[in-house]
Amino acid sequence: MIPKVLQFGATGQVGQALVAAAGRAVTLTVLSRAEVDLTDAAAIRAAIRAANCDLVWNAAAFTLVDRAEAEPDAAFAVNAAAPAAMAAACAERDLPFVHLSTDSVFNGQTGRPYVETDTAEPISVYGRSKLAGEQGALAHPRTTVLRVSWVFSPYGRNYVSFMLNLGRTREVLQVVADQFGSPTDGEALAGFMVANAARWAAASADDPAFGLFHFANAGETSRYDFARAAIARDPLTRARLEPTTQGAFVEAAARPPRSPLDSSKLAATFGFTPQPWKPAVERVADQLVRNGI
Ligand SMILES: NC(=O)c1ccc[n+]([C@@H]2O[C@H](COP(=O)([O-])OP(=O)(O)OC[C@H]3O[C@@H](n4cnc5c(N)ncnc54)[C@H](OP(=O)(O)O)[C@@H]3O)[C@@H](O)[C@H]2O)c1
Repeated sequence: MIPKVLQFGATGQVGQALVAAAGRAVTLTVLSRAEVDLTDAAAIRAAIRAANCDLVWNAAAFTLVDRAEAEPDAAFAVNAAAPAAMAAACAERDLPFVHLSTDSVFNGQTGRPYVETDTAEPISVYGRSKLAGEQGALAHPRTTVLRVSWVFSPYGRNYVSFMLNLGRTREVLQVVADQFGSPTDGEALAGFMVANAARWAAASADDPAFGLFHFANAGETSRYDFARAAIARDPLTRARLEPTTQGAFVEAAARPPRSPLDSSKLAATFGFTPQPWKPAVERVADQLVRNGI
């Protein structure tokens, strides 16, 4: 059976990666903001009630981390109320639900990669809104939440394309060297979701495929080394990279200083082992460079 998936979010980075990964493996119905605005919980419920699907997943979110500090109501509407409404509508129809969350649910004070049972203690409005979204989503027993971090891909707005662009326009590029995390390959994420759609669609509520999982590439890096790995692939770069500190940037939202994710539970449950982050970054940078970024 080819699973039929209802997808919220068309234009974002992961939304585009999912559309590209779907191929013939899943039949996607994709809802953009113009079709369903996630601030409208009634429209979300109506869309799920009307859908001919086996599974719902959500690739949409309020991802403007700094703007969320000034617009907490908007961030909570999209990141907390919307997934709760999706999960409730899925529960009514006994549909599985897959939702995405973030390393920003953690405070970043850790000496080792975070596991799913670690205490979440967000330090930004964005992080608090995403944590509330996880809780609303997981109220439905057939929900899977995948926490991802530092997502990069050939699609949309992301750190790799941003740094490559800056590398071509700046002489000197100051990059934060005291913030650490584990980048997530957006294409691997999308491929994983597509590959497991049939499993989620068939699984009962007590299946270990439901619950909370971390999904990031193997290894930890700084923002600086992450940028350096990408820029090193671009023969047209002009910029010299200089390490700086997070404190040197005036930003509205606090960022967790160290928030790598341990994906062992994902590997044990799904038999999926995320690859080291650096070759994945190089692959995406090469592709962006080939396409003129
Ligand atoms: N990117 C990262 O580094 C990162 C890190 C950790 C976690 N995540 C999580 O990964 C998921 C996917 O992120 P992404 O990188 O793909 O984000 P993105 O590129 O910023 O895309 C966000 C998507 O959400 C849609 N959206 C925002 N507000 C909406 C609304 N009111 N109604 C309907 N759609 C709305 C946007 O539509 P428009 O184009 O119409 O605005 C866009 O399609 C999110 O859950 C995010 O929290 C991302």
